Amino acid sequence: MYQNFMYYAPTKVVFGRETELQTGELVKEQQCRKVLLHYGSGSAVRSGLLDRIQKSLEEAGISYVTLGGVVPNPHLSLVYEGITLCKREGVDFILAVGGGSVIDSAKAIGYGTANEGDVWDYFMGKREAKTCLPIGVVLTIAAAGSEMSDGCVITNEKEGLKRSYDTDLSRPKFAVMNPELTMTLPAYQTASGAADILMHTMERYFNQNDNMEVTDSISETLMKHVMKYARILVDDPKNYEARAEIMWAGSLCHNGLTGCGTGGGDWASHNLEHELGGMFDVAHGAGLAAVWGSWARYVNHGAKDRFVKFAVNVQGVAPGETEDETIEKGIRAMEDFYRSIHMPTSLTELGISPAEEQIEQMAASCEQATGGANGCVVPLKKEDMAQIYRMAR
Ligand code: NZQ
Ligand code: ZN
Repeated sequence: MYQNFMYYAPTKVVFGRETELQTGELVKEQQCRKVLLHYGSGSAVRSGLLDRIQKSLEEAGISYVTLGGVVPNPHLSLVYEGITLCKREGVDFILAVGGGSVIDSAKAIGYGTANEGDVWDYFMGKREAKTCLPIGVVLTIAAAGSEMSDGCVITNEKEGLKRSYDTDLSRPKFAVMNPELTMTLPAYQTASGAADILMHTMERYFNQNDNMEVTDSISETLMKHVMKYARILVDDPKNYEARAEIMWAGSLCHNGLTGCGTGGGDWASHNLEHELGGMFDVAHGAGLAAVWGSWARYVNHGAKDRFVKFAVNVQGVAPGETEDETIEKGIRAMEDFYRSIHMPTSLTELGISPAEEQIEQMAASCEQATGGANGCVVPLKKEDMAQIYRMAR
């Protein structure tokens, strides 16, 4: 039986060279009084992008205040600072210039400004937001897909907890995507971004349902393309076509398209990674690559047909003599891909070595965050998750 679905992708995408020069006009269309210009830890300042955006806002007659300093795995403390600033200044629109961390920080500030009470409650599942300030995006890294997604991931740095809150309220009104802006990325961030993009479709692809062929075909094409162009960027980081293919794939892999009819997907690898991010502050995509192989080996018995399809259609491996052999070939091919773009395939390669107590702590925290069962291919309990972390060492 095909699963019913709702597809909602309200974000206006403005894609291509020099599109950031249209930002002022795009903000003006939103008919807001005052804007918060939100950005990261320096790359947008160094590249001159922030100057260009400010000029574009001024030319369009937009009044704005600024707040920089967002870090990867964005901190709750800056979100609180942003909420105070927005309330004081009467901000009614947030422009995020950066990647997933800046966009998510903007979304959280949007929730916290537009609703009463502690914004962290939403991330802990204690309350639901009624509204969110509208968000616009100028994207500088192809990775998280937050420019079109309903997701928002914040780290409570005091408690070492990284948690997500997902509602359509926060889907950005517009996203400006100039692939050239991503050419200044360090190679590690480019590769980590590609790993994340792939995983957003893989999480949806691995599930227990009858899948629509059209969704599967879109997913398989996206995954093959991201792998192809991520490899090209290793040696040719200024390749516009490769940057553009990856950037557009990044949005399509996480705006809901590849989840149409899949019943939601698995998401266990993401949940496992969020614990790593909260405890060790690792780059999200790299953390995903480090745990995926162990997850896949632990759960593939729960959806063998999907793993075989992935091996043959996405990784292009010749079928083995048994289903299990084909599945293992597919997992290895994926790990070979990670190595080819210098992504880790284990926690050691990720640069961390969690002690047994830390593994137990992450597994317990992940069980709490996922309500007792993580994923759908094989719903994972605390002990399963601890075992996957151990396998990933
Ligand atoms: O802060 P700056 O100085 O800009 O540096 C950033 C940061 O260090 C740098 N960077 C970004 N654009 C650049 C650049 N450096 C040079 N040139 C450029 N053009 O790259 C580093 C990483 O940036 P970040 O925004 O953290 O990357 P990403 O887009 O991968 O976002 C990661 C965050 O998004 C969350 C992750 O968990 C993580 O917290 N996610 C959000 C999702 C969502 N909202 O839907 C879904 C994802 O699954 C993910 O969980
Ligand atoms: Zn992700």
